[in-house]
Amino acid sequence: MAEAKKLYIKTYGCQMNVYDSERMAEAMGGQGYVQTDSPDDADMILLNTCHIREKAAEKVYSELGRFKGLKAAKPDLKIGVAGCVAQAEGEEIVRRQPMVDMVVGPQSYHRLPALAEASGGGTKALDTDFPEEDKFAALKSRPKTARGPTAFLTVQEGCDKFCAFCVVPYTRGAEVSRPAAQVMTEARDLVERGVREITLLGQNVNAYHGHDGGLAGLIRDLAGIDGLDRIRFTTSHPNDMDDDLIAAHGEVEKLMPYLHLPVQAGSDRVLKAMNRKHTAESYVRLIERLRAARPDLLLSGDFIVGFPGETEEDFAATMALVEEVRYGQCYSFKYSARPGTPAAERATVPAAEADDRLQRLQALLNRQQREIQDAMVGQEVKVLFERAGRMPGQMTGKSEYLHAVHVTDPEIAKGDLRRVRIVESAPNSLAGELV
Ligand code: 5AD
Ligand code: SF4
Repeated sequence: MAEAKKLYIKTYGCQMNVYDSERMAEAMGGQGYVQTDSPDDADMILLNTCHIREKAAEKVYSELGRFKGLKAAKPDLKIGVAGCVAQAEGEEIVRRQPMVDMVVGPQSYHRLPALAEASGGGTKALDTDFPEEDKFAALKSRPKTARGPTAFLTVQEGCDKFCAFCVVPYTRGAEVSRPAAQVMTEARDLVERGVREITLLGQNVNAYHGHDGGLAGLIRDLAGIDGLDRIRFTTSHPNDMDDDLIAAHGEVEKLMPYLHLPVQAGSDRVLKAMNRKHTAESYVRLIERLRAARPDLLLSGDFIVGFPGETEEDFAATMALVEEVRYGQCYSFKYSARPGTPAAERATVPAAEADDRLQRLQALLNRQQREIQDAMVGQEVKVLFERAGRMPGQMTGKSEYLHAVHVTDPEIAKGDLRRVRIVESAPNSLAGELV
């Protein structure tokens, strides 16, 4: 038998890229490729890239530079760029880095085996179409190998919201939902392979319309799958949080009490300039309704500071909103002008000011995060154990609230879902003992 060819994939950016990398590896598996952890012995290198901020996009070129020696030593080595930088920059990538053989966008990676076939020996293969056909239907069904207790499952892609700073509507395209039946089949399949927790993914996941009952309808159906214990979803837009989805947080036991609901800023003037189509007040009222449905809901969010035109007063409104909401988890970024987006044309806030605001916001968010985490000490949670921890005999998993929890107990095996009493809070994790 011929020796298997080796595929090295490096994934940048969001959870959807993690899912896409799995699917690309599976597609190449059908061509005799097995995955390797090191680029050094690879026959194919794929970078699955992120275009959301300038820093993320530029990483791709420095990473490619590191493969020059490998390519020189092994001319047959195929190098591909996938993901959102591939979509946004297309041929430009090959111009800047001529050693790249393949460029494939996030909506056309089901064609990766054909691109691999067509490229090499100086021939480039590029595909950044938004094809008519459904890539999920075109991809072969997923292999039946055993897997860990948690999995991502993409149910929706693309975004029609066009926030003024964001490249997603351009790189991922218009909103598309996978049919509920297709999602249910994939979910059952994952559960048969050992998965107990599924995180439904979409750039605008709560705008999902592949089910008559929307995302809430899909979640209620998924909750009926025996052996699936936990359901999560991310990322949501406040304007698509409908009544039934709010109610589901109180009614569906398997839906975990954690919600990532980005607001981006707390000033209505900035929200308007961002084209967010909601106000700070409407966001806070929405959080109140969610907390009425599920009082222990832990909230997570995204913030951008230094958006063009943001004044110190606008920034104070962001700080006030954070104080009011209290986040258990948060991601905050300095605004990065992205080519082709409306905001990229506007005058920027001086970098030093934006840096200073980011520091102040992060200090507040970190404090809140830590307070909420510390308040878990003494409480009982349920932990789904995912892997061995760093200390001997220790196992690590996630609580309902997505807190990392370590427990040292020989009774615990990977994949167990156990009641745990929290005994200690460390900077980024909790320690507990079995109840
Ligand atoms: N600059 C900085 N942050 C951005 N995000 C999206 N676009 C930009 C940008 N141009 C952030 C938003 C979004 C998260 C995924 O990334 O907060 O919710
Ligand atoms: Fe980008 Fe999210 Fe706004 Fe869509 S809703 S444009 S993905 S920030």
